[in-house]
Amino acid sequence: MLRTQVAIVGAGPAGLLLGQLLHKEGVDTLLLERRSADYVAARIRAGVLEPGTVDVLERAGVATRLHAEGLTHDGVEIGFRGLRHRVDLKALTGKAVTVYGQTEVTRDLMEARTRSGASSVYEAEDVALHDFAGPTPRITYRHQGEAHEVACDFIAGCDGFHGISRRSVPAAAMSVFERVYPFGWLGLLADVPPPWHELIYANSEHGFALASLRSPTRVRCYIQCSLEDRVEQWSDERFWTEFRRRIGGEISARVPSAPSIEKSIAPLRSFVAEPLRFGRLFLAGDAAHIVPPTGAKGLNLAVSDVFYLYEALRDFYGERSERALDEYSARALRRIWRAERFSWWMTRQLHRFPGDAFDERLQQTELEHLFESHAAQMAMAENYVGLPFEPFRGG
Ligand code: FAD
Ligand code: DHB
Repeated sequence: MLRTQVAIVGAGPAGLLLGQLLHKEGVDTLLLERRSADYVAARIRAGVLEPGTVDVLERAGVATRLHAEGLTHDGVEIGFRGLRHRVDLKALTGKAVTVYGQTEVTRDLMEARTRSGASSVYEAEDVALHDFAGPTPRITYRHQGEAHEVACDFIAGCDGFHGISRRSVPAAAMSVFERVYPFGWLGLLADVPPPWHELIYANSEHGFALASLRSPTRVRCYIQCSLEDRVEQWSDERFWTEFRRRIGGEISARVPSAPSIEKSIAPLRSFVAEPLRFGRLFLAGDAAHIVPPTGAKGLNLAVSDVFYLYEALRDFYGERSERALDEYSARALRRIWRAERFSWWMTRQLHRFPGDAFDERLQQTELEHLFESHAAQMAMAENYVGLPFEPFRGG
């Protein structure tokens, strides 16, 4: 039987980052991923990093390219009724966000793991978690047709929303909180210089649109779509026509119909599973929670979970103290729920919901208050740049 100190399930940003932080502390990890390395490296997802996320990536020693290629954004814009209102993140909070794709973060982490010599198994099939309620957890899996078993001190469940880790916990031991939204996001990536300088989140009468970017030559745009829609129904031309209609103002005249490199639909969901610890199994990132993408919190939240878990495991191996491990779940959940609240709020204010005229008036009132009130802008800005990480207070 193989042996490692921490077995990590899932090679998304959460699993890769945990592995890298632990490697720097001399802790041995084995990473088990269901997909191929090429598939993981090519996935297109989030694009905005909080300053706290950048700090953690620096600490992990994977921020060189991020600093060279990431774009610093001091503000974001909200479009409503044909006007654009800027929220000056820098003036309000002293902080800015960094535009740097999750694809790039993943690539930097994968390269660092290869350099570190730590073990990874891609295309691991039938990953199953055993005995994590006791002191000697095990994982079994198949790889290239052969059965394998690994013994470990701890299992980090970093395998995303559809992973096996959360589903391995008896239902009675877990509470689940969930909200599903009645629409999705259709995203399109294209190689064309963005005709906007900062992200624009637009609430239009035809639905939500987001103008984002990945680099000075690559745009990432989203529109709210029906849950019944299929990507094949959306030609590039149809996407751009709808996007222009929603983004409005003088920008719409400058949006070119560039051919897509990637196009996909994601449903929107809020979800939290509590607690995050079950004996020697710890959940982190999308394995434990989902936020709707409005507000760009998903990746950033995975990073703060991982940072807390890393600190706790470092204390365990360094000082033989379990206090931070005992605190991990409560500490992470406090920040998770704040990001859940903010993502729900952003989603609520910026999309078209079916039906209720009272809700529509409230939405309009909320946005007008945001545009006029320094205090409301401050509340949005401090959440958008990311609430501070909570220091470990010793349990
Ligand atoms: P993941 O990135 O999901 O990684 C989990 C990994 O575990 C995957 O590699 C998966 O293949 C692997 N895995 C799953 N099951 C198993 C198993 N049984 N055995 C082994 N490995 C397994 N956030 C934003 O802020 N903005 C966005 O625009 C945005 N777009 C998104 C679009 C999509 C389609 C999705 C799914 C998410 C999006 N997110 C977005 C959210 C953000 O990308 C996630 O919050 C982030 O990827 C979480 O990282 P993670 O490592 O926790 O999970
Ligand atoms: C992007 C995605 C988001 O969900 C968001 O709020 C901002 C930017 C993006 O993919 O660029």
